[in-house]
Amino acid sequence: MKKRILFTGGSGKAGRHVIPWLLAKGYEVHNIDLVPLDVPGVTNLTVDITDLGEVFNALTMHRDFPDLESGRGVQPFDAVVHFAAVPRILIRPDNETYRVNVMGTYNVIEASVKLGIRKVIIASSETTYGICFAEGERDPHYLPFDEDYDVNPMDSYGLSKVINEKTARAFSERTGADVYALRIGNVIEPNEYSRFPGFVAHPETRLRNAWCYIDARDLGQIVHLCIEKDGLGYQVFNATNDTVTTDLSTAELARRFFPNVPLKWQPQGDEAMISNRKIREVLGFKEEHNWRKYV
Ligand SMILES: NC(=O)c1ccc[n+]([C@@H]2O[C@H](COP(=O)([O-])OP(=O)(O)OC[C@H]3O[C@@H](n4cnc5c(N)ncnc54)[C@H](O)[C@@H]3O)[C@@H](O)[C@H]2O)c1
Repeated sequence: MKKRILFTGGSGKAGRHVIPWLLAKGYEVHNIDLVPLDVPGVTNLTVDITDLGEVFNALTMHRDFPDLESGRGVQPFDAVVHFAAVPRILIRPDNETYRVNVMGTYNVIEASVKLGIRKVIIASSETTYGICFAEGERDPHYLPFDEDYDVNPMDSYGLSKVINEKTARAFSERTGADVYALRIGNVIEPNEYSRFPGFVAHPETRLRNAWCYIDARDLGQIVHLCIEKDGLGYQVFNATNDTVTTDLSTAELARRFFPNVPLKWQPQGDEAMISNRKIREVLGFKEEHNWRKYV
C-alpha cells in the first residue's frame, strides 16, 4: 500500500519541487492550497487553512472520483506535510501574515493529530534566528546557528514560525505524535543558480540568509526522510545545504561580518552557518545539489 500524504501549500515555490520528489518515492500525494498544482497524479482541493472546518473536511473526504468505486469509504492519511503560509513579510500586512501562519498551522496540526495521524511535518524557517528580517544590523547570540539557539525574531513572519514550533511541540506532548518542524533556509529552484555568481562576488548581500540555502529538490529528500523516520516526537531540524554560498570560509565570514559574536564551535571550511549536522546525523541527509555543481 502506498503511503497517503496530505500536502498543504503544495502549489508554491517549494511544494512544486518537493511533491514530485515524494511521488518518485512511491507516495500518493494530495494537495490542498488556494490554487491548484498541475502535476499528474496529484489531486487538488481548494482549502483555506485558516478555516478549521475546511481543514477537518479536507482530511476526511474523498479526493477523486475513483475513490467512490472501491466502496471502502474514505481512506486515512499516513502523514501531513504542511507548507501553506504567507512566506515572508512585506506581502500582506504584518497582522495578516501572523494570523494566516499561526492559525493555519494550529488548524492543520490540531485536525491531523485529533484524526489520529501520527506524523506531521511543518515548514518553519531560518527567519526564526532573528537576522533575516531584523531592523538594521543585529548580532546573533552565537554562531553557527544550531537547533538549540534561543530563537528571538523581531518580525511578524519569524514570530509566526516560532509560535508554530511551540504549537507543534504542544500537540506532540499531548498526543505522542511525531511533529517535526523544518527551519528551512532560503529555497533555491534549479533556475536560480544563475544568481550565485553575484552571491559569491558580494557576500554582504547574503548576510541576512547567513549565506545558506536549500535546494528545492534536496528539501524533497529531507521531507521524505522525515516521513520515513518515526518515533522522534517533537523535533526541530535546520533544513539547509552543506556549505555557504561564497568563496570565503565560514570562519572568515563570521570574523568579517560578526566580529563580536562568539563561535559555538570552530567552523570547518565552508560548512553551513545554519548547521545541517542534525539532519545528516539523525535523518541521514546527503545533499545532492551543492551550488558548486551549477555555478
Ligand atoms: N521560500 C523560502 O525561501 C522559504 C524559506 C523558509 C521557509 N519557507 C516556508 O516554506 C513554506 C513554503 O514556502 P514557499 O516559498 O513555497 O511559499 P509559496 O508562497 O510559494 O507557497 C505557499 C503556498 O501556500 C498557499 N497558501 C497561502 N495561504 C493559504 C491559505 N490560507 N490556505 C491554503 N493555502 C494557502 C499559497 O497559495 C501557496 O501556493 C512556507 O511555509 C514558507 O514560510 C520558505
